[in-house]
Parts: sequence; C-alpha cells; structure tokens
Amino acid sequence: MVSVASPVRQSESRGSIEPILAVTAPDMKRVNDLILAMAGSNVALIPEIAEHLIASGGKRLRPMLTIASAIACGYTGEAHVKLAASVEFMHTATLLHDDVVDESDLRRGSKTARTIWGNQASVLVGDFLLGQAFKMMVEVGSLTALAILSSASAVIAEGEVWQLSAAKRMTTSEADYLAVIDAKTAALFAAAAEVGPVVAGSPEPVRAAMRDYGRSLGLAFQLVDDALDYGGSAADLGKNTGDDFREGKLTLPVILAYQAGNDEERAFWQGAMEGGRNDDAALLRATALMRRHGTLEATIERARHYGEKAREAAASLPRSPSREALLSVVDFCIDRVS
Ligand code: IPE
Ligand code: IPE
Ligand code: MG
Ligand code: MG
Repeated sequence: MVSVASPVRQSESRGSIEPILAVTAPDMKRVNDLILAMAGSNVALIPEIAEHLIASGGKRLRPMLTIASAIACGYTGEAHVKLAASVEFMHTATLLHDDVVDESDLRRGSKTARTIWGNQASVLVGDFLLGQAFKMMVEVGSLTALAILSSASAVIAEGEVWQLSAAKRMTTSEADYLAVIDAKTAALFAAAAEVGPVVAGSPEPVRAAMRDYGRSLGLAFQLVDDALDYGGSAADLGKNTGDDFREGKLTLPVILAYQAGNDEERAFWQGAMEGGRNDDAALLRATALMRRHGTLEATIERARHYGEKAREAAASLPRSPSREALLSVVDFCIDRVS
C-alpha cells in the first residue's frame, strides 16, 4: 500500500452526526437488538459471518435516516424499527456481495468476510441477510414500504452490474458515473428516508421530499467516498484506499482527470485503467494528476451541490429536532473522513 497525503479539503464543518445519533438513540438500540436477533441461524456459519461484519461497526447511517424521517413526520408506532433493521440488512448484504465483486480485503477496519471464509460463504450469507430483510418488511405489513425497499434492492444490484460493465472503459462519462451511483448507493438512501413518512401516513409531497433528500444525500455520500478512495486514509476509512484504481473503476476523480489531461496523461490513464498497469507507482502518478487538475476538490464540489439539494428537500418539513438532525447529517457526510 502506498499512503497518499490527503488533498481532500476539510472545511470547517457545520455538520455533525451527533444530533441524528441523539434523536434516534432509543429506537436504534432496538434496531441493533433486532439486527443481532435476525442474524441468528442454526447453521453456525451464518451468525459467525454476519456477526463478524456487524460487530465490526459501521455508521448505521441508513437505518438512522429511516428512524429520523419517521419521527420527523410525527410517527409514534413500532414499524420504523423493523424497517430500519431491514434497511441495514440490505446494506450489509450488499457489502458482503460487493467485497466479493471488488476483491476487497478490508472492511470496517477488519478483514473482509471473503478473506476469512471465502467468496462462496460471503455471497450465500449476503443472500440470507437479504431474505431476513424481506421477512421483516413483510411483518410490518405496509405494501408501499415493501414496494419501495424491494425496488431499491433490485436497483442496487442493477447499479453494481452496470458498474461492472463500465469498469476499465475510459469512455465512461460523468453522466454514466452519476447513473451508476444513483443506482448502487442513492437508491437505498432514498428508500431508507422515504419509508419513514410512509409508515407515518404522510402525504405524497412529504414522501417525495424525503425521497429527494435521501437520494441527494446518497449521491453526495458516494461522491465523497470516491474522493476518499484516493485522498483518504485506510486507517480512517477502515477499508483500503486505492482499491478503485486497482480495479479499474471509473469514478469521477478519474473521469475528470482524464478529461482534463493531455495526450500523454490520457495514455497513462488508459494503460492504468484499461491495461491494468496499476502498481503503487502508477497510483502515486494518478493522485499527482488528480492534484494537478484539482479533481478531488471538483468531486467534493459536486458532493456539496447534492448536499445543498438534500438540505433544501429536508427544509420543507416542519421544524423539529429530527428535521435538524437530518439537516446536520448532510454536512457530516460531506466533511467526513471515515
Ligand atoms: C459503504 O457505506 C458503501 C458505500 C456506499 C460507499 P458506509 O460508509 O455507510 O458503510 P458502513 O456501514 O459505515 O461501514
Ligand atoms: C459499495 O460500493 C456498495 C454499494 C454501494 C452497492 P463501493 O464498492 O463503491 O464502496 P466500498 O468502497 O466498497 O465501500
Ligand atoms: Mg467495494
Ligand atoms: Mg463496489
């Protein structure tokens, strides 16, 4: 591993994860208990693998969006806890599968399940968690919530397959990239935020506002994640940096550097992304070119744009501590280092 000094600017953050942790704390305790209970199985390998990933932590951002959006819409019932656990299970299943696809070795600061138990077990346990997620959704009994989350599940998989077919292709445009991250990441953020108002029985404009909030936040989140893959540190992130480069994944920092590059630089990118010439020296060159053309900053700027859209969408809700928490987590996601 080369270590790359962080060129990702840390602005004086107005955002914080504390308010959303505070407003969701009692419900998230129940979500976490439910997650552990639903990871159980008589087949010992299942809880072993699931608990490895669950115990490694994770920010629990998506289920907190479900809880906070339900509370912000005045919900006082129980359904949001099961839906939030479903959302986190969908995310966990996706990570198990994604680490197989990406051949990643580090996740949440620990070895990935695939490096300990192998790809086959990781894929199958991911499937189990997805099944458990759907069981919890059905128990809630809202066909609308089920429709939203099941669509998201299909769209995430579509996004991952789409990304696979765009890998190693320098013709990938910014629009292609945005469509991929919309599907693989923003769809789950959108669904997580929308099912809150759904169980609260809120009218369609409120649902739309929360959906837009989640979608924009998800786009911002993935843009930042893709900048951090070059500009962040593995110690902060709990996953290896430079993975995207080694995989030939066409993320925005690369797309922008390729567009801005001269002929020689473009030849370098082709060799690296398409030709697999992606050793540590090549990664250093890649980050130097990103610095020259300011593409990590430009990627963060795009994230700020979507962050602004997310805040505008959430601002349409009536003022409450949970609305403020939803607003505050936007800047946290943009200014995050982990
Ligand atoms: C990782 O998501 C996958 C991406 C969309 C980049 P998170 O960064 O939310 O992962 P955890 O749950 O906190 O580990
Ligand atoms: C994570 O995507 C999984 C999905 C969003 C579907 P990435 O492959 O981009 O993220 P990391 O870097 O593994 O967390
Ligand atoms: Mg990955
Ligand atoms: Mg991936």
